[in-house]
Amino acid sequence: MADDDIKVAVVTGANRGLGAAIARKLAEQGLHVVLAGRNEYSVERVVSELLKDGLAASSHQLDVNDPASVARAFADTAKQHGRLDVLVNNAGIAIDRGQLAASPDFERIRSALDTNLLGAWRCCAAAIPEMKKNDYGRIVNITSHLASLATMGDTNVSYRVSKAALNALTRVLAAELAGTGILVNACSPGRMNTRMAYGETDRTPEEGAETPVWLATLPPDGPTGGLFANRKPIDW
Ligand SMILES: NC(=O)c1ccc[n+]([C@@H]2O[C@H](COP(=O)([O-])OP(=O)(O)OC[C@H]3O[C@@H](n4cnc5c(N)ncnc54)[C@H](OP(=O)(O)O)[C@@H]3O)[C@@H](O)[C@H]2O)c1
Repeated sequence: MADDDIKVAVVTGANRGLGAAIARKLAEQGLHVVLAGRNEYSVERVVSELLKDGLAASSHQLDVNDPASVARAFADTAKQHGRLDVLVNNAGIAIDRGQLAASPDFERIRSALDTNLLGAWRCCAAAIPEMKKNDYGRIVNITSHLASLATMGDTNVSYRVSKAALNALTRVLAAELAGTGILVNACSPGRMNTRMAYGETDRTPEEGAETPVWLATLPPDGPTGGLFANRKPIDW
């Protein structure tokens, strides 16, 4: 059970990469972080490192594609902690690097939409009623520069389309929740050296986590419905 004054955050896909880095940084800011991942054992490994460093953290199984798993994770968090303040929708897949829109593989496209769009949407829908109870919430959707309509290019088509749809969801939710105390923003962390980026960049997940953590801890007059990179608004 978390202390009444301690904010509680759920981070999806927190077993590795950017999600693990965001979870650590949030815990370092004094939040209790529920690290959620589809394989609970791999999340527990990360949790035990945080606990060793005196940080407040726990694990929960959560597969964003499985509605029952999502419902269980958020119901258990509400029951155990009595509150939910922050949701970081970090879980994501990029499975069609060379794919072109004119020759679609609809199975891959369906998977990308299910995880990157519907998975995040499911988590928002489960989190928002808990946030409304305290008139407070911060939702951060992790997106990508590849989803920007302003600079849209070819290849990675299901990734681009699913993250562009996540950007749209961000703006719809922000408008719908205006005045409720719940701020909803999207963040592009930049290309980071995680499994997803095939080691093709030097940017660390810790560097990528900086802006999502800032958005997850915004003051009440902070922005909502924005897309940010390096703490600055960027073109949708
Ligand atoms: N790396 C980059 O350059 C980059 C750039 C821009 C945006 N992003 C975004 O950053 C986020 C994190 O990616 P990453 O770079 O850290 O890549 P990553 O190392 O591949 O991590 C992806 C995470 O998502 C989880 N995940 C995938 N499907 C899931 C599901 N159905 N339910 C729950 N968790 C699921 C994975 O869990 P498993 O271990 O179980 O697979 C893993 O924890 C993603 O949203 C990605 O699109 C990354």
